Amino acid sequence: MASRGSASMASVITGALASLLNAHAAVNAHAATAPVPAHAALLVTMGRAVYQQHCAVCHGERGEAARGWQQPDANGELPAPPHNAQGHTWKHSDAMLYRIIQEGWRDPFNKTQRLTMPPFKSQLSRADTLAVIAYLKTLWTPEQRRFQTEESHGHPFPAEAP
Ligand code: HEC
Repeated sequence: MASRGSASMASVITGALASLLNAHAAVNAHAATAPVPAHAALLVTMGRAVYQQHCAVCHGERGEAARGWQQPDANGELPAPPHNAQGHTWKHSDAMLYRIIQEGWRDPFNKTQRLTMPPFKSQLSRADTLAVIAYLKTLWTPEQRRFQTEESHGHPFPAEAP
């Protein structure tokens, strides 16, 4: 869990990365299989800090999920799934991942209507959101990353924060 001090430092740095990120998204759209640019490592470090502060409580310290995530709980809601190679986060395009994190999500078969995956648009900037997705990608196998890159052709990150 990141301390408050390092988390606010992280958000200052992720803010400063915004223009780099725009370049990164543009490069990604055209050459997603190119070697990882140097700033990508910094992006992943920032994304890990965002993840630990906002996501780990439900999705697990390393994306391993809540216990019993495949079965609905007592309220008829599916618990938080894993983000690692055992999950299916990698099946979503960049556009869809961005939307899920910003707008929230619920399984259509949940017995309740509430968004069990909370919306983060009031807490995470576009830069924070791209950083946390960059971190999630490090939890996948090379094959899963390739599949997700293909899925993202034609469904990239939004060019600007909506
Ligand atoms: C309060 C608990 C909670 C927090 C905090 C949370 N999530 Fe979730 N998340 C969920 C649940 C529950 C689902 C499953 C929703 C469903 O499909 O029923 C989910 C689903 C997702 C999915 C879709 C996964 C898939 O396999 O389809 C993504 C991506 C995701 N979360 C990312 C994040 C990120 C990134 C953060 C931190 C910024 C985060 N979540 C924080 C509970 C949470």
